[in-house]
Amino acid sequence: MSFKNYKDKIEEGDTVILYLSNNLYALDVQRMIKNKKGEMVENVFQTPFGALKVKNLIGADYGSRVELSKGWGHVLQPTPELWSLTLPHRTQIIYTPDISMIMLQLDLVPGSVVIEAGTGSGSLTHALIRRVRPHGHVYTFDFHEHRAKVASEEFQAHGIAEFVTAQHRDVLSDGFGDDLKGKADAVFLDLPSPWLGVPHAVAAMKEEGGRFCSFSPCIEQVQRTCLALQEHGFEELTTMEVLQTELKVTRRTVPVRDLSFLRHKSSEKPVEEKPSGDTTFVVGAWPPSTPGHTGYLTVATLPPLFARSKKVSKPECSLEEQDSPENGDKMAVVGTEDNN
Ligand SMILES: C[S@@+](CC[C@H](N)C(=O)[O-])C[C@H]1O[C@@H](n2cnc3c(N)ncnc32)[C@H](O)[C@@H]1O
Repeated sequence: MSFKNYKDKIEEGDTVILYLSNNLYALDVQRMIKNKKGEMVENVFQTPFGALKVKNLIGADYGSRVELSKGWGHVLQPTPELWSLTLPHRTQIIYTPDISMIMLQLDLVPGSVVIEAGTGSGSLTHALIRRVRPHGHVYTFDFHEHRAKVASEEFQAHGIAEFVTAQHRDVLSDGFGDDLKGKADAVFLDLPSPWLGVPHAVAAMKEEGGRFCSFSPCIEQVQRTCLALQEHGFEELTTMEVLQTELKVTRRTVPVRDLSFLRHKSSEKPVEEKPSGDTTFVVGAWPPSTPGHTGYLTVATLPPLFARSKKVSKPECSLEEQDSPENGDKMAVVGTEDNN
């Protein structure tokens, strides 16, 4: 299957990415599909550049140009990055800039065992699977039964089911299960109340310790998560926001002053200043607008068990204290003893 390995030729059953002049579509390569009446008919995919007979993709090279009835496009390998841009949305998803930082911060390598909740649309899950396979494993949970089921089916269809276990479960009330106690290298939470998952993350992490990361759109969620992390013995708490900016290479014409008169400043005769001349440079220009806020990533380290028990401490302040009027504006929002 094409999600599992890079390959040269497209086979029936693959999912491919059709690239058409800045538009991307994920396509299942099936000769026949069911129409609205439930009849099997030839699979013809309609695009702004006309129709594509999907059976013509079978045997074509990945990366090659394909003909449409009114133009042409390219067929690409389904990488997790392209899948995040084309997948059917069942929820909000995490995109590649945040995903890259999550991979780095969770210290994931092939062989890692990582727990994720919630699965959502499986955008992050696909990237986690690629990072930890072939010997690692992703355990992903969602309390929305249909989402958990569809995600399982998708992993099966993409040929990556052996690297992932998708379960229907409320991880905040039920934890990650006895089977995962002491098994995880890393835990990632994309849930409305990640702070409630912190004790379960501690239970699931290996004796050697591990890394934690949560994704939250609001700073109040970050506050609560940091307090829970501190209370449960996590260290190296850091909260960050990933804002990707793409510089465009362009030409800019700017006036350049002739400063040669400065050399004669001390001479007795006044030196005439020459007018500025326009010069054109090739520059890397900032875009007129930058992408907005997606969410905060809060990351932390759980130390090994022998170091952990001595360190567990009450947080510097509780949220109740933060809310109290006497504290006014003085209370730190994200900082803890560890990261200040
Ligand atoms: C924003 S989505 C996750 C998107 C995912 N990270 C992605 O990139 O596709 C959040 C998911 O968490 C699930 N969820 C919320 N609370 C949960 C809980 N207590 N236990 C398990 N799943 C939960 C929701 O059903 C939802 O599907």
